Amino acid sequence: MIADSFIQELKTYCDVESVISSYVKLSRKGKNLVGLCPFHSEKSPSFFVYPQTQSFYCFGCGAGGDIITFLKKIENIEYIEAVKLLAQRAGVPLPEEAADDNRARMKARVLEINRETARFYHQCLVSPQGAEAYHYLIQRGRTPKIIRRFGLGYSPNNWDTVMNHLRGKGFQDHELEASGIGVRAKSGSLYDRFRGRVIFPIIDLRGNVVGFGGRALEDRGPKYLNSGDTMVFKKSKNLFALNFAKATKSEQLILAEGYMDVIAIHQAGFDNAVATLGTSLTEEQARLISQYTDTVVIAYDSDGAGQAATKRAINIFSEVGVKVSILSIPGAKDPDEFLQKYGPQRFQMLLEGCANALEFEIGKIKAKYNIQTPDGKVSYLKEFAKLMAGIHNPLEREVYISEAAQSLGVAAEAINAQVGALLKKEQRSANKKEQNDTNIYIGDMAAGRGDLQRKKYLKYAIAEERIIGVLLKNPDYLPVLLERIRPEEFVTDVNREIITLITGRIQAGRPAEPMALSESLSPEGMARVSGILANAPAARSTREELEDYINILQEFYKTKTEKDVAQMDSSQLREYIQSLKDKKK
Ligand code: UTP
Ligand code: MN
Repeated sequence: MIADSFIQELKTYCDVESVISSYVKLSRKGKNLVGLCPFHSEKSPSFFVYPQTQSFYCFGCGAGGDIITFLKKIENIEYIEAVKLLAQRAGVPLPEEAADDNRARMKARVLEINRETARFYHQCLVSPQGAEAYHYLIQRGRTPKIIRRFGLGYSPNNWDTVMNHLRGKGFQDHELEASGIGVRAKSGSLYDRFRGRVIFPIIDLRGNVVGFGGRALEDRGPKYLNSGDTMVFKKSKNLFALNFAKATKSEQLILAEGYMDVIAIHQAGFDNAVATLGTSLTEEQARLISQYTDTVVIAYDSDGAGQAATKRAINIFSEVGVKVSILSIPGAKDPDEFLQKYGPQRFQMLLEGCANALEFEIGKIKAKYNIQTPDGKVSYLKEFAKLMAGIHNPLEREVYISEAAQSLGVAAEAINAQVGALLKKEQRSANKKEQNDTNIYIGDMAAGRGDLQRKKYLKYAIAEERIIGVLLKNPDYLPVLLERIRPEEFVTDVNREIITLITGRIQAGRPAEPMALSESLSPEGMARVSGILANAPAARSTREELEDYINILQEFYKTKTEKDVAQMDSSQLREYIQSLKDKKK
């Protein structure tokens, strides 16, 4: 556990605004800041940052919490690592006990193992035992320079070479197993996961080796074998070569299918290529990409599987608001082969003239109608205008509109008028949504949307949330609350968790603002706390208000359901009927 005093100290150094604005473009809105939520796709901003409470909250998806929650979520790290990151940023040393955390220590060990293993594989590749693998790479057109740059390697074709090497470096079996490089056999001993393969190390954005891909040299086993998910690696959240591509000057990223393609593209002088890791594109990966660019060129294989994967990827990218171009690769099965055959210049030409996803869409609509007839023309233009209204760049819109006007023989102004009307409508509904967002009723709070229990007991849940809100702002009201109701009596689980923690902390004289709760509270709890604060009235609540909420909550224990009544024995039933009579009086 990290001392409160340290967290407090950290808080004075890192304010929520400066930390979050290094990830999200924020603009000022009164006392607060607002931007596009990095945790879900949206076109109008509903992500708020509150300097006063040092918290953030998204009215769209309900993500929320303090700076630590934010870092955990966006960097996909543990509490302790987030604290470390903040401490680093602030330049304050971490207290001893914090560095002691077991899981964090194990993660650090796994990263060390990965780094050592990558070094070892590379050593093997350039030593005599790797001759065949090295020759294979050279014969596939890779240069010694690119082999070094990507740290490619070779895993010896034995069961225990790597295990023994790592043990010799002082790593223990349970650590080797956690790294995934050692696999536990039925007999109980560990063996090497990668054997007789060309190795592609996977490096994350901070330069850590997090996993490996391995290509078979012989026709045995799967052609490619990847690391499984470990405590430092999630296939669905990483991209191969993003560590290089993130530094590109190019405005777009190229997404290829395989390791070899990516390396070939980099070798040809395009430093902006990435690939997924043996799985098809996930939404997480698309969102990751959207943090670096708003345009992606999909350069998948030209075979049927590649084309099907392209279609899926187009959909996923459109959900996260990334524009897509599709590179069709004539005369070759994939970018690697194309580059071998035709060279970088031709590849550059492909990139420049690459078929745009939008043109693809336009073509599809065109095919639906007979544009030779006036009726067909009108229907086509209607749908075309809708498509255009979805384009945010006015210049791009104009290009397509004037093209369409020419080819259909209609005035561009006519199409413009249609599109303009649609855009106005969209703007109106966006404004309305914003209005609703700011007046949002806590009952509809995004942070509680997935919570079925909250839905079922909504009335009580809202009362609980109001009570929590009052308490967060006025801790001095705690005795009033405890006089009438105990934290255990809160009806819904998430709110009970929050109130129990807050109560305990206030009683112990410890701070109870969001950043102090972050270590003990579940992610749902953290998001709920931020939601409550974001929805809370600005003025100080009165004692009467608090009493009102408590009354509502107490009703829960007074009202019995039919089922409860059915299960009462006769004396309980008599008592219950009497209590109802008393109430009526
Ligand atoms: P390909 O078979 O097209 O890979 O699969 P490639 O890189 O073009 O293969 P070679 O080396 O040139 O022959 C595309 C990607 O799909 C994943 C790998 O990430 C591969 O790079 N894959 C493929 C697997 O994970 N497992 C497999 O068995 C095959
Ligand atoms: Mn391929």
